[in-house]
Amino acid sequence: MWELADRYQLFVGGEWKDAASGERFDVINPATEEVVATVPNAGPKDIQEAIDKAAAAQVAWAETVAAERGKILSRAAALMHERVEDLARVMTLEEGKPLAESRGEIAYAASFLEWFAEEGRRIYGDTIPSSSPNKRILVLKRPVGVTAAITPWNFPAAMITRKLGPALAAGCTMVIKPSELTPLSALEIAKILEEAGLPKGVVSVVVGTDAPAIGQEIMRDFRVRKVSFTGSTEVGKILMRQAADTMKKVSFELGGHAPFIVFGDADIDAAVENAVASKMRGMGETCVSANRIYVQRSVVEEFTAKMSERLGRMQVGNGLEEGITVGPLIEPAAVEKVDRHVQDAVAKGATIVLGGQRPAASKGYFYAPTVISGVNEKMLVMQEETFGPVAAIVPFDDEDEVIAKANNTRYGLAAYYFTRDIGRVFRLAEQLEYGILGANDGMPSTAQAPFGGVKESGLGREGSKYGIEEYVDIKYISLGGIQK
Ligand code: SIN
Repeated sequence: MWELADRYQLFVGGEWKDAASGERFDVINPATEEVVATVPNAGPKDIQEAIDKAAAAQVAWAETVAAERGKILSRAAALMHERVEDLARVMTLEEGKPLAESRGEIAYAASFLEWFAEEGRRIYGDTIPSSSPNKRILVLKRPVGVTAAITPWNFPAAMITRKLGPALAAGCTMVIKPSELTPLSALEIAKILEEAGLPKGVVSVVVGTDAPAIGQEIMRDFRVRKVSFTGSTEVGKILMRQAADTMKKVSFELGGHAPFIVFGDADIDAAVENAVASKMRGMGETCVSANRIYVQRSVVEEFTAKMSERLGRMQVGNGLEEGITVGPLIEPAAVEKVDRHVQDAVAKGATIVLGGQRPAASKGYFYAPTVISGVNEKMLVMQEETFGPVAAIVPFDDEDEVIAKANNTRYGLAAYYFTRDIGRVFRLAEQLEYGILGANDGMPSTAQAPFGGVKESGLGREGSKYGIEEYVDIKYISLGGIQK
């Protein structure tokens, strides 16, 4: 029977080791506030070593044929499926999401390795007609080189594989810096990569509590040619400024503030189910979570009643226990933020229909599923991502009004809308300023589709055939001397 290690090590250049400083830190279970395990507290020295090893492994890895790289990715995906129970347990222990969701995330994470195992074989070049009879123009795509991934706590496995899959498939090495709140899933993935036969140095996993210092070390190193980051817009802006000094390629998946629009002609039951799925996935702690729920006035009462009934049936508690559908938030500050948003809305005239408080639990960072109605644009819930289980419902009257409201934000990651009018499906798809549109679909994320935002929600795309383009450079060969 598999046992969780209580003392993890860093994975640097294919070796398991402690941090150069010898320091360690605790990983806390947000449902019980107990220590799950301890992890070495890496700093700039450890990151340097990981980059050195990645740079040393880069040429040989880029020369490995795509089919060979794909086989390693496929083996790693198969191992993830085989170990889903153990990996899900680790995830629930460190992140809090209910076990069923953790299992779903492991499958989602493996799907990126599976997709890119295949996609690596299709990094095609081009030939372009030349303007000279004496020349030919050829386009090659080559791996960008050493890359780094800075990943968040809300998807401790999938946000790693969504970056790692295309990087490895394209022939890049990668240094991974997972969130210090959820390092265990990342280190378990490193074990799987090692077992799948990944050559030493191609991937390192280095985690530490001083995220700004580690981030700076990655950003200032010229050898790192590409950084992919998922996290807040605020940190994304800092990294973008830092990337300028060495002109790194970047892709950023940043904050969202998703509108979820329900028109009077929609299938209301389907809209409610999708709103629950989007809102409550990961306790509302996702960048694509429905944050501003706009419902046409003719159906707002029906929608609010059904949404409250569905959320009221959800079971809050330790995600390891049977029947639990809502786990804890990640840390006390997250609970405080959610509560601040709810209290601000109430102070400005909103009504709490369901929840609106921390449930009575002696331990853990819980917040009850909450529905608030009578919400308006002045409230914090309508201005910032809540990142918690709060459904803020706002009535609207017509299409133009709701499009303008939905677009009135600096964010542009995901937007959802429910309608049976096919013309409206296209009008909204064209007019909503978002990278991902769920038309009658609250769960659009999948490995084969391009995930990413516009405006301050980020740059670049992950997943899909577009995701691998982020890890290649285009080279052009002008071939002369063709005519005799
Ligand atoms: C995120 O919230 O950062 C990712 C969500 C997804 O992949 O669906």
